[in-house]
This record gives sequence, structure tokens and C-alpha cells, in this order.
Amino acid sequence: MAQEIHSQYDSILILDFGSQYSHLITRRCRELNVYCEMLPCTQKIADLDWSPKGVILSGSPYSVYDDVAPRVDPAVFSMGVPVLGICYGLQEIAWNHGGSVDPHDHREYGHANVQVVKTGDAHMDALFEGLGSEATVWMSHGDQLSRLPNDFEVIGHTATAPYAAIAHKSKPFYGIQFHAEVTHTPCGPQLFENFIKVCGCRRDWTMETFIDKEVARIRELVGPRGRVIGAISGGVDSSVAARIMHEAIGERFHAVMVDNGVLRMDEAKQVHEMLSTHLGVNLTVVDASDLFLSRLADVEDPERKRKIIGNTFIEVFEKEAERLEAEAEAQEAAAAREGRAGETAGKYEFLLQGTLYPDVIESISFKGPSATIKTHHNVGGLLENMKLKLIEPLRELFKDEVRALGRLLGIPAHLVNRHPFPGPGLAIRILGPVTRPQVELLQKADKIYIEEIVRAGVYDEISQAFAVLLPVRAVGVQGDKRTYDQVIALRAAKTTDFMTATWYPFDYELLARISNRITNEVSGVNRVVLDVSSKPPATIEWL
Ligand code: XMP
Repeated sequence: MAQEIHSQYDSILILDFGSQYSHLITRRCRELNVYCEMLPCTQKIADLDWSPKGVILSGSPYSVYDDVAPRVDPAVFSMGVPVLGICYGLQEIAWNHGGSVDPHDHREYGHANVQVVKTGDAHMDALFEGLGSEATVWMSHGDQLSRLPNDFEVIGHTATAPYAAIAHKSKPFYGIQFHAEVTHTPCGPQLFENFIKVCGCRRDWTMETFIDKEVARIRELVGPRGRVIGAISGGVDSSVAARIMHEAIGERFHAVMVDNGVLRMDEAKQVHEMLSTHLGVNLTVVDASDLFLSRLADVEDPERKRKIIGNTFIEVFEKEAERLEAEAEAQEAAAAREGRAGETAGKYEFLLQGTLYPDVIESISFKGPSATIKTHHNVGGLLENMKLKLIEPLRELFKDEVRALGRLLGIPAHLVNRHPFPGPGLAIRILGPVTRPQVELLQKADKIYIEEIVRAGVYDEISQAFAVLLPVRAVGVQGDKRTYDQVIALRAAKTTDFMTATWYPFDYELLARISNRITNEVSGVNRVVLDVSSKPPATIEWL
């Protein structure tokens, strides 16, 4: 896969030293229509099976003095391509070229003004081309250069950092102490554009070319008769992946959606309509809601709910895959009998997954995956048992790129922009036992909540909004009668990466409308509360 992409596009290699901003470097390159790939900083250059046009070394939470500080393979400096070091990356360049790095007396965090030094040498000045004499940048570092590395010159300094930006006198090596990849550095895009120019990269990576190339790649991989099966959740990732697969191999792709009984209201119906009716994807919806709900009855522990749903999902999906496989075999046998072999049937050899780039990054990070707070359920567990080969058309993309792709592929905006929905669905939003009446109650409240925030025009401002059904009863008075009913909590989170989040500051009138409608229209609920917790210390879901 990597080789195919790299033979088609000029690419930049990003070596990740674990900075929280590393993935933003990837974004900045893509925005310039340049394909790039991020690998752990421990990558041996001799093991690369492609030739990058340039290398970017990211920042890092480490100090170069830490015993476990990650080190770049020095071979990166003899590849004959430009290298840009950002923050820790600059220190790595210095370290490898005889410079010194000192711990700074205080951590420098925030805005700084870089004075741009024009050396008069076009090669050294290339990084800051088009910038004025001063630029606002974002600093976040502990250590900084205390001595210039051999054969380097200063191309920028701040009041506290004399070597805020450096360039090699004759080689295309540049280092910056600040973070050009974050939006707080307004000249960042220009700086990356300049570096890309130094690398001599063609800028031809677009979503349209991505679709064409991906479709061609899938066709070649699957062959003229191979079949692909995929699980569809109703979320944007699996829907976009399914649409690309359909574009590539049409009827030989079969999508399966498992209705686990804890979906949002009418979700299975909507996804069925969108994929099969509007987009022509071959889709079977398996209604396994009774099975799931019978297994969830009386279960309150969140991790048990997740495990039950994950395992039952695998069981149902595998059974459906076997049924489809048997159907394909029968078709193949019939085709052979009628002398049509090779035209109509083939085996299910591949499994489609909507894995995104951040998932890939997490699994390749030299730091290893982060601590498990919750066991997120995905279809990864299917692989070992099923012996199907994996196809991941979106593994190079970020979420907003997948959304752009979805729009290009004709997936309706309300589905493309939909908030994420967890695999265990409403089961982790019903805090007590999960029963059909409790699911129905939550579905109704959730529908009203989402309808109102869409109507108020704030849905796209919120990253994830949903209702939660609390396992408590409260006294109320409705129609002159005492009630003793349940409580709905409203959750709305704003986040970019879902690792941290803040609560959304709703307009009071909107809250009043949502609350009124829920208590009036959902029988069994007499009280609505608002969740005003950030993550951390809370998480986005309640379970
Ligand atoms: P938390 O609650 O961990 O959620 O702050 C972060 C994001 O992950 C989603 N989430 C899940 N997604 N299976 C999933 O597929 C899960 O078990 C699961 N738990 C949380 C959550 O909806 C949010 O988008």
C-alpha cells in the first residue's frame, strides 16, 4: 500500500517524537496537497521502502537529557533530502551536528515574536521567504539551543531564544524552536509551503485523485472475482468506506448492518435508505435486537455491557458472513454447471474496515497505545477468527478529510456531519439496566434534543451531543398529579480530538425549549438536567 501511494505522489516523511501536535504537521502538508506519512522516530532509514522528498522531525514531550529520550537515526542526514526540525526536532538536528542544548530556566509556553534574520543567502533564507521582519509564533518547550551547531547560521531569534530558527550553510537542513504546525503560529502555513518548495514536491494530492487511485488500488487487490464484506455502523467512516468499495467493485461488496437494539431512533432504517436506496450499496440489515437486549437485561456494569455488545456483534456478523459465503459458493457452483464460471461468483476474501489515520498513529507510536480508560468496541476482534484479509481505504485520512470525501461521494450532509456514535450505542447512555422500554424512552428524548439543536443551528458547533437516561426517580407534578419519574441528562461536548473536551455553553432559551419538549412529550420523564463537566475529570460518555 505504502509503496503504491509513494510511487504515485511525492511524499514527505514525518518522524514522530511523541509531540501532541505531531498529527497537525501531517494536516499542514495535506492542506498543501502534499502526501505525507508519519512514522515513529525510531524508524531506521535503511528499512524504508520508499524515498521521501523531505523529512520533518516533530516535537516531543521528552528533554534531550532524559535517559529514555528518543533519538533519530543519523542516516536521515545523509539521505540527500531537506530536513526540517521542529522544537525537539531542532534539538535533534543540533545534537547530530555538534550543537549544545541546555535546559531553560523556565518552560516557555505561549506566543513569542521571532525576529527574522535575512542572511542574504537564498538557500538559508528560503524557509522564511515571504515573511516580514517579525513573525508571531507559538512556543512550547523546556530546553533550547545554547550553542549553534557546526555550519549552521541563525535565521531567527526571539528575546529569550537566540537560536529560535537555524539553517545549515550549504545543506537543506532547517530547525525552528517554535511550533509552526499549530494555528497560533499564523505564518505556519507559509513556512510549510516554503519547506515543501525546498523539497521540490509536486503538489497533486487531492480528494478526487485519492478516490480514483483508491478505487484502482482496490480493484487490483480484490481482482475480477473477489468479494468483500464489511460491517456498517451508520457512522460516517464506515459509510464512506462502503461507498468507495461499491464504486470499486459494485455488487461484489456486501455491507452488513447489525441492529443491536441500542441504536438511535430509526437509525437502521435511515442507514438502509441512504446506502442501498440512494447510493446503491448492497446492504443487509440484520435485526438482532432481541438477542442483544436479552443478553443486556440486568447488566449495569459499563465494561460488561461493552463486552457483551462486542462479542454478540462478532457472533452475529460472523453468522451473516457464513450465510453470504454459502450463498456465494452456491452461485459459483451454479455458474460452473452452466459454464459461466469466472463471470459471476467468487469468495469473500476481504474484510472492509473504516480505520482512520489517528487510529494508525496510535498503534504505531513509539510510546505505545495510551492507558485504557474504556474498552472501545470495534470490529478488530473479527480479524483473527475470520482469516479475512483487511482493506482499509481510509487509513491515510483524518476525520474531516473523510467528511470531505463523503460529500464528494454524494453522501447527504446530515449523515456526513453526524456526531460520532459509540459502538455500544445507547447501552452506555442508559445508566441502569438496558431494557426495550428504557431504550425507547431514551430514543425519544435524544431525538427531541438533537432536533432542537439542529433547528437552533448549533449542531455543527457541537462535537457530540446526546441524552443520557439516569437510573434515579424524582418527584414531579404534571397535570395536577404527583409523578415519580426518571431524569434525562443533556450532554454536549466541544472537542477536536475527543481526548479532552469542554461542555457546550447553551443558550438558556434553547435549553428551556429542549427541557419543555422532553418533559411534555416523553412519558416517564419529569426532570431534565444539564451536564456541565469537562473531560478531564469526566469523560464524554457517562459510562
Ligand atoms: P469518552 O467517553 O471516552 O469518549 O470520553 C470519547 C469518544 O469515544 C466514544 N466512545 C466509544 N466509541 N465504543 C466506541 O465505538 C465505545 O465503547 C466507546 N466509548 C466511548 C465516545 O462516544 C466519544 O466520541
